[in-house]
Amino acid sequence: MAVDAPVPESIAAFLDTPTPDAWLDEACQRLPEMLLDHANCELKAASTALGFLYRYPERTALAQRMSRLAREELRHFEQVRSIMDDMNVGFERLSASRYAGGLRDAVRHEEPYKLLDMLLVGALIEARSCERFAKLAPRLPAKLGKFYGGLLASEARHFEHYIAFAKTECGIDDDAFEERLEELKAIEAALITEPDDEFRFHSGSPR
Ligand SMILES: [Fe+2]
Ligand SMILES: [Fe+2]
Repeated sequence: MAVDAPVPESIAAFLDTPTPDAWLDEACQRLPEMLLDHANCELKAASTALGFLYRYPERTALAQRMSRLAREELRHFEQVRSIMDDMNVGFERLSASRYAGGLRDAVRHEEPYKLLDMLLVGALIEARSCERFAKLAPRLPAKLGKFYGGLLASEARHFEHYIAFAKTECGIDDDAFEERLEELKAIEAALITEPDDEFRFHSGSPR
């Protein structure tokens, strides 16, 4: 039975630009690659969380949350790997998609803007992952659809944490915050809608 997993309202409102339907069609045709890249994304999410711990160890609330987040993302990695095993999908190296690199390039170098940008980029990636899990779930084989239906709740929570820290940890006023968020949202929207030669979990419209 198909899994009904609507995109949570907070996520749909945050991402003004939805994933193109053509990407969803492509993903359903290319499940092994999608799973492989999804596993990589979980690993990168854990590593990003650890990066905050190394960079900002004196920020107690942030460090505690990121430590927990890293463990949760590693658990997701293990879960994707076992689903891959069940589906006989072998692990291979995959080049990184343009998405994370494109967002990373937008991060400013001086503090506190660097921290703000990294937290907002984290929020965008989590929100987009959540949206894609929700939209894929009803289209996938039952077991995978159920797994994605469960994951989207975690990613929605991660999105909330990143946004909350972006608001509380950086000392940026509301106007500057909104202005920067809009700029990063526009970059993110271009990355997921513009034609993309590669297919990845966060790729753009298939060419
Ligand atoms: Fe995850
Ligand atoms: Fe996450």
